[in-house]
Amino acid sequence: MSRTPAADVLVVGGGIIGLVTAWRAAQRGLVTTVVDPAPGGGAAQVAAGMLAAVTELHHGEQTLLGLNLASAHRYPDFVAELTELTGQDVGHRRCGTLAVALDADDRAHLRELHALQTRSGLDSQWLSGRECRRLEPMLAPGVRGGLRVDGDHQVDPRRLAAALVTACERTGVTLHRAWAERLSVTGGRATGVVTDDGTELAAGQVVLAGGSLSGRLTGVPEQVRPPVRPVKGQVLRLAVPPRYAPFLNRTVRAVVRGSHVYLVPRENGELVVGATSEELGWDTTVTAGGVYELLRDAHELVPGITELPLTETRAGLRPGSPDNAPLLGPTELDGLLLATGHHRNGVLLTPVTGDVLAHALTTGELPDEARPFTPRRFGAAALLEQPA
Ligand code: GLY
Repeated sequence: MSRTPAADVLVVGGGIIGLVTAWRAAQRGLVTTVVDPAPGGGAAQVAAGMLAAVTELHHGEQTLLGLNLASAHRYPDFVAELTELTGQDVGHRRCGTLAVALDADDRAHLRELHALQTRSGLDSQWLSGRECRRLEPMLAPGVRGGLRVDGDHQVDPRRLAAALVTACERTGVTLHRAWAERLSVTGGRATGVVTDDGTELAAGQVVLAGGSLSGRLTGVPEQVRPPVRPVKGQVLRLAVPPRYAPFLNRTVRAVVRGSHVYLVPRENGELVVGATSEELGWDTTVTAGGVYELLRDAHELVPGITELPLTETRAGLRPGSPDNAPLLGPTELDGLLLATGHHRNGVLLTPVTGDVLAHALTTGELPDEARPFTPRRFGAAALLEQPA
């Protein structure tokens, strides 16, 4: 077995969460390695990239809202810094979002969301169907009303991932292209991983940032194994020919028959339509049913969509956690930290995750804003303390 000199930090997983963690750690002077067979891959290759802190607000997720908003506020500076370092455009578009209702049930649901947003001090404006269509002329005539949220923007996750790879390279992060097979634990402390190419990567601290795969690394003691599960999302990509542009000016979304559907228009003419949410284990098959439901629901919102070329269909796996919130920072195993479980918010939470993990890696503590997201909330002791 070959051994490499010990790094200060080893990040297991080179998706956007692992990469931002490595970049921020290296900026703080820590010698950092990322282990991943294909850095820049993962769920970001499928995600639409909505920065939807306000329109994806759910009852009971007020604490997560605080973290989502903190990250949304950091996005402009984060993107500016990344672009200046790498010279790469990440498709950050400050376009806003319109959430619409197609029938009386949707309208009632959206009214309730609006009330929750207002109670939470968030900026969102109720519009009539006619006002929605004035903003977005391609909307179906049947749209009954909507919420205009000018603060929910978008970024292109594929470009973001590519820029983060470059940022890591420019900041001196080593990218070790292999699968991490087993966590090494020595004297009650995480000390590195062994990879499938037979290398032992040693490090002072290990960050497990493997997305939906985070719970599968061999050697992680059961009591600190992250409780993440794969939540499948099927996503379509279409192209808006110049003669139809601008097809949509902002992200348009709705809940149709209980399922979320959203249309995210990129500046380059790509239109992303997502996403299913399926609890099917590790399956990433694109199914006729998934594509049918997305197109059917998107067509109800924006009938003209059927004219557009369909350029790609793809499925990815969100890292779902028991409370839909991420697991950030130190675990009960010395030397092992987590950055996973971001579920529907991985792209949105990328800037704040990088900052939180860099803080935790350099101080051993979580910053105040991230304390509720400690992985220890799922530990055996914490679960015993909860009322039945
Ligand atoms: N945040 C969008 C999704 O997970 O589908």
